[in-house]
Amino acid sequence: MALPPLENRPCGGRYGDIVQAIGNTPLVELKRLSPKPGVRIWAKMESANPTGSVKDRVARAMVEDAEERGLIGPGQTILEPTSGNTGISLAMICARKGYDLEVVMPANVTPERTQLLEMYGARITYSPGDQGSNGAVAMAVRMADENPSRYHMPYQYGNQANPDAHYNGTAKEILDELDGEVAAFVAGLGTGGTLMGHARRFKEELGDAVKIVAAEPMQGEPVQGLRSLDDGFIPPIIDLSVLDRKIFVTNRDAVIWTRKLLAEEGVFAGVSSGAIARVAVRIAGEIDEGNVVFVICDDGWKYLSSGVYTKPVDEIADLESTLFW
Ligand SMILES: Cc1ncc(COP(=O)(O)O)c(C=O)c1O
Repeated sequence: MALPPLENRPCGGRYGDIVQAIGNTPLVELKRLSPKPGVRIWAKMESANPTGSVKDRVARAMVEDAEERGLIGPGQTILEPTSGNTGISLAMICARKGYDLEVVMPANVTPERTQLLEMYGARITYSPGDQGSNGAVAMAVRMADENPSRYHMPYQYGNQANPDAHYNGTAKEILDELDGEVAAFVAGLGTGGTLMGHARRFKEELGDAVKIVAAEPMQGEPVQGLRSLDDGFIPPIIDLSVLDRKIFVTNRDAVIWTRKLLAEEGVFAGVSSGAIARVAVRIAGEIDEGNVVFVICDDGWKYLSSGVYTKPVDEIADLESTLFW
């Protein structure tokens, strides 16, 4: 007997393995956050990727690029500095593809990250917690320089495959879903990959009609996953001239808006997404009509132990040791 036609399309696609299932994430309208009827706010749910973050796209792009160019040899270890998400994505992909992985992470990361990395079989080297992700970058670069035959370092901060993953993937998906109508795009700034890839694709397709806005933490106010450019290190993949604006967010606002996303829209996200949502809503209030798109970088699971959802806001907003970036 013939089955009735499927009524719930699109149904997410069919893939040969979990690495191929990365991307094609949902774009969800957040109606309760919109300040006026003519302005629609959309969340690109990168938390829906297999390991729960936007970095699955970047890790896959960097590993596949290295494979295509013959940069990963037998017996070599992939080495990467990360504040967590890229390491977890690389760990999943390396486990699937059979590569050894070592990640360099600040010592004060949340325990959920360490657990996930260990579950996937990655080795972890800790850099000093008080030096944040810059300390992890410096340590990994030193390790790779001292032992180039042992390590291949994709180096997300300087690898063109990082923004290209967004240029060819995330940005294209957003344009397809919104029929090319994007008034503003808001993302956080960590390596800069998300902002650079989207900026290039959107400016090419839409010119100056689209505004590219970066959410940056206040200097000295750490928001997990984001960096302040005033902190001294500007990743080589960043070209500041493609950004129309950058808007600073306090750690306190990041926490408040992370909770708002959950309470008002049912979106369970990490703290950087709260910071980005705060900026997206501000931009939405400044325009008369159009689509404002922002990125939900990761889900909230990895932040539970830091008390982002449970502790008093004043307590959590001041806790540098748990709100590293
Ligand atoms: C949770 C989280 N949010 C935002 C970002 C920033 O993304 P990008 O590195 O593309 O600038 C990162 C990057 O590490 C992240 O881990």
